[in-house]
Amino acid sequence: MNNYEYCVPTDIRFGEGQIECLRKEIGKYGRRVLLVYGGGSIMRTGLYDKVYEVLEDYDIFELPGIEPNPKLSSVKKGADFCKANKIDVVLAVGGGSVIDASKHIACATFYDGDPWDLVLNKKLVTKALPIFVVLTISATGSEMNPGAVISNEATKEKLEINHPLLYPTLSVCDPTYMYTLPTKQTAAGTADIFSHILEQYFQPNDGAYITDRLSEAALKTCIKYGPIAIANPDDYEARSNLMWTGSIALNHLFTFGKGGAWSVHPIEHELSAFYDLTHGVGLAILTPAWMRYVLCDVTVKRFAMYARNVWDVEEADDYYAAVAGIDLTERFFKDMGLPGTLSEVGINDSQFVEMASEAVRTSGLSTRAYVKLYASDVEQIYRDCL
Ligand code: NZQ
Ligand code: ZN
Repeated sequence: MNNYEYCVPTDIRFGEGQIECLRKEIGKYGRRVLLVYGGGSIMRTGLYDKVYEVLEDYDIFELPGIEPNPKLSSVKKGADFCKANKIDVVLAVGGGSVIDASKHIACATFYDGDPWDLVLNKKLVTKALPIFVVLTISATGSEMNPGAVISNEATKEKLEINHPLLYPTLSVCDPTYMYTLPTKQTAAGTADIFSHILEQYFQPNDGAYITDRLSEAALKTCIKYGPIAIANPDDYEARSNLMWTGSIALNHLFTFGKGGAWSVHPIEHELSAFYDLTHGVGLAILTPAWMRYVLCDVTVKRFAMYARNVWDVEEADDYYAAVAGIDLTERFFKDMGLPGTLSEVGINDSQFVEMASEAVRTSGLSTRAYVKLYASDVEQIYRDCL
């Protein structure tokens, strides 16, 4: 195993009714709260009223309208508001988009220049407001990690800002809040969780046995409970297993002792930057194509291990086992109702060259990925998805 530093300071409050803890916990940091939320789902589900009930003794200010694939303009608006109104705490109620925007707002509040500078140079992050979270969709793991992915509308860049100050202070993870999710979002969220685990599983280091076995258990959990949550949206067992899997899938537990750069996420981020595609949908389309592209004599052993340990493939030949595992991965996404091609989501080849070069320029794809990929490789993977 590689040397590794591991410190996750987020206080997780998991389970039904845990939102009540905010009444006391937020007060440790102040009374002036910026409530950040998305396009209105929290109004329809009743969560908005619940937040006001729990925080009746607080001064609540609002930043509504955070977009899926959150935009820099929303971050600027939020940071300006926090500066002008002496906000003590940012409270994100929503999914990854709302949480990520809140994280960026929390640190941009203490920076006088353009918040995008912080994305390009994390050394400029010096301080952040405490970030509290009420999670409403399992997908990104943002509730328990220090990352935030923000889209710059002007430059069409979608990049991550990652800094220890951006770990949420406390996250309420109540599985019942996911009962209202549209089927597409449950499926896309599950695909995102699945992809996070795969990105860490497919790394060069073979010595992190414990990490690989934990990862396989988490992948199996998605395979078991994703379809159940889609068929029965208010199945508590399914929602709770997915919720915890989503959190640990990206709090770096599954990178422990490993390392390297991710492969499919940078390729996907260009799709959502250029086309505003739902992140998990892009991952579901790209993942099987990436797997087929990088399957070779060097990678076949790990792909066969994945097929046998995650999908219970019994084939003795490594190569056939690997192909069976990839086919089953593709089937899993399709069975959850996710599209299998870029054509199905209205994307053609017109921007592939630019997207491929951006994906490589802004990531470790060509330097530290499981299989190093250059712009021509990424372009071919996009084409394989048409
Ligand atoms: O905006 P509202 O009205 O709230 O509706 C949202 C949104 O339309 C809806 N929704 C969420 N919870 C709901 C609900 N609808 C009904 N009932 C509920 N309980 O679902 C839609 C999607 O929400 P969003 O927050 O965009 O989803 P997700 O959590 O998948 O976040 C996606 C964003 O996170 C980034 C992605 O790139 C994308 O921008 N990521 C963040 C990461 C991180 N911070 O670590 C890592 C990921 O790999 C990812 O890149
Ligand atoms: Zn993701």
